[in-house]
Amino acid sequence: MQNKIYQFSENIFKIVGKDSALLTAGTPSGFNTMTIGWATIGVLWGRNVLICFVRPSRYTFQFMENTDVFTVSFFDEIYNNKLVYLGSHSGRDEDKVKKCNLTPEYLAQGITFDEARMAFVCKKIYCQDLEQELIAEKIKVRYYPQGDYHRMYIGEIIDYLEK
Ligand SMILES: Cc1cc2nc3c(=O)[nH]c(=O)nc-3n(C[C@H](O)[C@H](O)[C@H](O)COP(=O)(O)O)c2cc1C
Repeated sequence: MQNKIYQFSENIFKIVGKDSALLTAGTPSGFNTMTIGWATIGVLWGRNVLICFVRPSRYTFQFMENTDVFTVSFFDEIYNNKLVYLGSHSGRDEDKVKKCNLTPEYLAQGITFDEARMAFVCKKIYCQDLEQELIAEKIKVRYYPQGDYHRMYIGEIIDYLEK
């Protein structure tokens, strides 16, 4: 894995900030996926990590809580409309993956999609709720008028797939 991660040479600001990705958690017998537009990739505690942020109101949240491994998958532009759909509908109400015609790919650990062009497989090593009193006022006003403060998940990157 250590060597594989050095193949990653993309601009994180573009692939996360401008494009978006799918965060997937659960097991083959029950999982969920949702679009994310916020993620950080770097090094912490001597490990390669990916950090993502999930509001408790998301159906994906309970899968993040109940499983140790999550994946973050990236797609070509032609999948943009599917990512918009998966980011505006809830897996509570329907089988979003089926609706979007995505094919789950069950890895030794974690679940991604055949259609993804690249994926990070991450093992949770830390999580914490963002604390409202520590957030700058202008961020709070902009992002948390209804509360629902994100929980931050730090995942150690245990595999990196380029397809
Ligand atoms: C471009 C985009 C980026 C998003 N980023 C995040 C994010 O980083 N964290 C989050 O909690 N929700 C994010 N969302 C919202 C969820 O994807 C959305 O609420 C989704 O319907 C949740 O699905 P679920 O209920 O099946 O988990 C984003 C939505 C879009 C369209």
